[in-house]
Amino acid sequence: MSGGFKVAEVANSKNDEFYTPAYAITPLLRHLPPPYVDKPVSIWCPFDTEDSLFVKIFRLFGYQVTATHISGGFDFFKTEPLACDYIISNPPYSLKGDVLERLFSLGVPFAMLVGVVGLFESQRRFEMFRSHDFEIMYFNRRVAYFKDYQEQAPSLNPPFSSVYVCRGVLPQQIVFEEIAKR
Ligand SMILES: C[S@@+](CC[C@H](N)C(=O)[O-])C[C@H]1O[C@@H](n2cnc3c(N)ncnc32)[C@H](O)[C@@H]1O
Repeated sequence: MSGGFKVAEVANSKNDEFYTPAYAITPLLRHLPPPYVDKPVSIWCPFDTEDSLFVKIFRLFGYQVTATHISGGFDFFKTEPLACDYIISNPPYSLKGDVLERLFSLGVPFAMLVGVVGLFESQRRFEMFRSHDFEIMYFNRRVAYFKDYQEQAPSLNPPFSSVYVCRGVLPQQIVFEEIAKR
């Protein structure tokens, strides 16, 4: 893995511990194949503990979910990727370029919720996006993340929009979804 993105984004790493509300996760359900007993669908959430709402919601809807997180010794960049049908999460903001680069190289369909600010900036990202097929899910509202899984009180209303960068998930290159914030 190259470290180019990391160096540029390390200053933002204090913002990595923000968690995703349910309303920003459920729009993905419209675009995933339904899981059946004889045809299960597996999802790896590589930046998630068992508390993550990605994990809880996908399990609730019958998906086979494996959650891994750096706190359990599973560094996304240093460990073997799990076999799965989809890789879905909200990655650490300070590492989003490196995360997307690795995901494109793995070739497994993925959806990653990231801030749009700076997403396409830098020659390196320009090259990364230009050389891969990808899709974007764009929301009508900004996602307000939270800091505590118990309270789920929105503690950050970012001055930027969040989008899902996907590969092999959405039916067209850009999909607009309305979210109802609660
Ligand atoms: C923006 S938070 C989102 C957490 C969860 N996906 C959610 O949306 O609720 C990103 C998480 O990735 C974890 N993390 C940071 N670096 C990681 C790495 N190299 N491998 C796995 N997890 C990492 C952080 O500790 C943080 O909890």
